[in-house]
Amino acid sequence: MRNLCIVGLQWGDEGKGKIVDYYADRFEAVVRYNGGSNAGHTIVIGGRTFVFHLLPSGSLKKKKLLIGPGVALDPLTLRDELDLIAKEGGQADLLIDSRCTVVTPLEKEMDAFIEGLRGDNPIGTTKRGIGPSYAMRALRLVPRAGDLDNGTFDMSSAVAFYRSFMKTLPDLESWTSASRRILEGRTGDVGGTVMDLNEKGHSVMFEGAQGVLLDLVYGTYPYVTGAHTIATYVPAGLGIPNSALGDVMGVAKAYTTRVGGGPFPTEMFDETGDKIRREGKEYGATTGRPRRIGWLDLVALKYAVRLNGVSELALTKLDILTKVREMKVCTAYSVDGRETSDFSKALPRLASVRPVYKELPSFSGADLKDEQLPRVVEDFVGYLEDELRVKVTLVSTGEERSATIRRSI
Ligand code: IMP
Repeated sequence: MRNLCIVGLQWGDEGKGKIVDYYADRFEAVVRYNGGSNAGHTIVIGGRTFVFHLLPSGSLKKKKLLIGPGVALDPLTLRDELDLIAKEGGQADLLIDSRCTVVTPLEKEMDAFIEGLRGDNPIGTTKRGIGPSYAMRALRLVPRAGDLDNGTFDMSSAVAFYRSFMKTLPDLESWTSASRRILEGRTGDVGGTVMDLNEKGHSVMFEGAQGVLLDLVYGTYPYVTGAHTIATYVPAGLGIPNSALGDVMGVAKAYTTRVGGGPFPTEMFDETGDKIRREGKEYGATTGRPRRIGWLDLVALKYAVRLNGVSELALTKLDILTKVREMKVCTAYSVDGRETSDFSKALPRLASVRPVYKELPSFSGADLKDEQLPRVVEDFVGYLEDELRVKVTLVSTGEERSATIRRSI
């Protein structure tokens, strides 16, 4: 079996955690390759909700867990999640790449500081220090996991840098010793481990964080995260060859959500949007912020499918659309009176485009409890497959692990 990458196709929160958890049994290891504790991957098992920010979502399946060098690692979040697994009676089999960027308390301060400088127009970051920590890596002013584990990084230049614009700095001494204790004996070569597993005939799953439209370069810049979120980053984010990427499963909600600032062409400001937010429990898993809600945007989704080389699609939260009367998808944007379905072309002026909608039969009242989807939902899925030219192999109809339908293709 080939390796599999699970990637979000919208602005994050597509339900990747559930899909990763669903497939984890088939793989020897689950690997994080990007982002950090800004992610919030939710899994619901037997009515209990677990949220992982840093550890891969396969954590509750007792899989080998790998955190690659493309991740911005917050050691104290890691400690909390390891404690959670221990409370559940498990013990994480975890390896962190020694080249992983570390998020120190200084980067969290800088995140809040820069958001403050943006005044009325903040990015709306999660304030987890993600962007600053990648920036500080480029400036070579932040330790990596191995440097911390081995005590080989001198923080004095970083401290001098922060002192130049911050009056008070957080206590680094106690943070450093706590972080070293967590990382001790857990750092190594994640890319090499993936390749060794593959050579022994084991496959691994790469778990993406955030979504394509939050990619630092290909997303809705500057309202993006500090890292790459696209599947093509997997090889670079882990230190493995392109040939090891394997298959790419894109995950999309049947509608769209966004947290934080930035353009959102299909955003809804009406009662239907509020109902979707309530029914879909659309509140940030990391920050608790209400998510912005919009109709499914096929223009953006086509772009995401192409950028990632998506080989199959998982569609989530279809059940939420049974609670509302309307059903729409955006098929094009109107820009200065002209229609386009080319997302890249529209991107520089995304804030001013008008969505062009296609009305579809409503899911209102449809029963999604059976293995066999109702006709109206099957037709919708078929329509998306035709538009996106990719098969929908998995449909999620509820938050529980069990509410997942595998479609034969
Ligand atoms: P940062 O990643 O904390 O720098 O935040 C940058 C933008 O990405 C903000 O709009 C955040 O709300 C958004 N963001 C970061 N992580 C996630 C996520 O896991 N889900 C959804 N949005 C996210």
